[in-house]
Amino acid sequence: MNARRSLLLTALLALGAAHAAHAADPVKIGFLVKQAEEPWFQDEWRFAEQAAKEKGFTLVKIGIPNGEKMMAAIDNLAAQKAQGFVICVPDVKLGMAVERSAKRHQLKVMSVDDRLVDGAGKPIEAIPHMGISAYEIGKQVGQGLAAEVKARGWTMAEVGAMRVAYDQLPTARERTQGALDALKAAGLPEANVVDAPQSKTDTESAFNAANIAFTKNPKFKHWVAFGLNDEAVLGAVRAGEGRGFKQDAMLGIGIGGSQAALNEFAKPAATAFFGTVLISPKRHGYETTLLVYQWVTENKAPPSLTLTSGTLMTRRNQAEVRKQMGL
Ligand code: GLA
Repeated sequence: MNARRSLLLTALLALGAAHAAHAADPVKIGFLVKQAEEPWFQDEWRFAEQAAKEKGFTLVKIGIPNGEKMMAAIDNLAAQKAQGFVICVPDVKLGMAVERSAKRHQLKVMSVDDRLVDGAGKPIEAIPHMGISAYEIGKQVGQGLAAEVKARGWTMAEVGAMRVAYDQLPTARERTQGALDALKAAGLPEANVVDAPQSKTDTESAFNAANIAFTKNPKFKHWVAFGLNDEAVLGAVRAGEGRGFKQDAMLGIGIGGSQAALNEFAKPAATAFFGTVLISPKRHGYETTLLVYQWVTENKAPPSLTLTSGTLMTRRNQAEVRKQMGL
């Protein structure tokens, strides 16, 4: 054997040993979320824990409210010898940074909820993703609102449609577009659409945005409100209450169906938070984590795109719907 070949062989053997050591490392998977205090993300974490318990691996949960914390969290995972992670980023434009950092640390990465985009704003196809069917779910919101407007005998011409907007996030834009299209198909005049842009995706930002929108549009007798999640609609509902638009003059349907919505339904008197489209934190938490686990242990990559569906849940049918969804 010449010197060159023997060198190559040694290198290959070393590589094999390193690989075997790697395979024997205990499995550790991260679950990074943009808004750890939001019930939706708490639920995702809870279901991810369930997967970890069942398969016997360690789950590392980290809240990443901004880009800096996100980068530190990925470095931290690598330092802890994790093999992969699921992520919902604080800003989808951080997509390339996530991809690069994961590659550098040899970590498998899958996104959840908010799909990562590249510099041109296109989805990064190489990173597997699970999100909701945003436009369809938005349509369910709009159809639910339109049906209740009709049931109450309101005339669409007198209804203001408040779109609590967070347009820099594609899934948010698609959700509210779906709602809007359904409302327009049911006769809502275009001129009655009122945008309430929020600076963050929490209740407080939605409340502030809705207050401004109410002030600027005093002419409507009735209101419907929708947005990207339950928090957005709850903010609008709270703002409406402050202005005398209670349950009999306003209607809101959110998206999510986690604790924030259930608390609202549990109040003795109905509020303007009429319903929510229940989506599945179990699929988004348990399934994504399991997919990354299989990727790490069996080298089986997750499907590149999975879109989950939702079901309209109101104060009236909540118990039934939750049971159907296995919650
Ligand atoms: C986004 C929203 C969350 C939740 C998820 C569901 O991340 O900010 O509130 O609705 O989508 O996929």
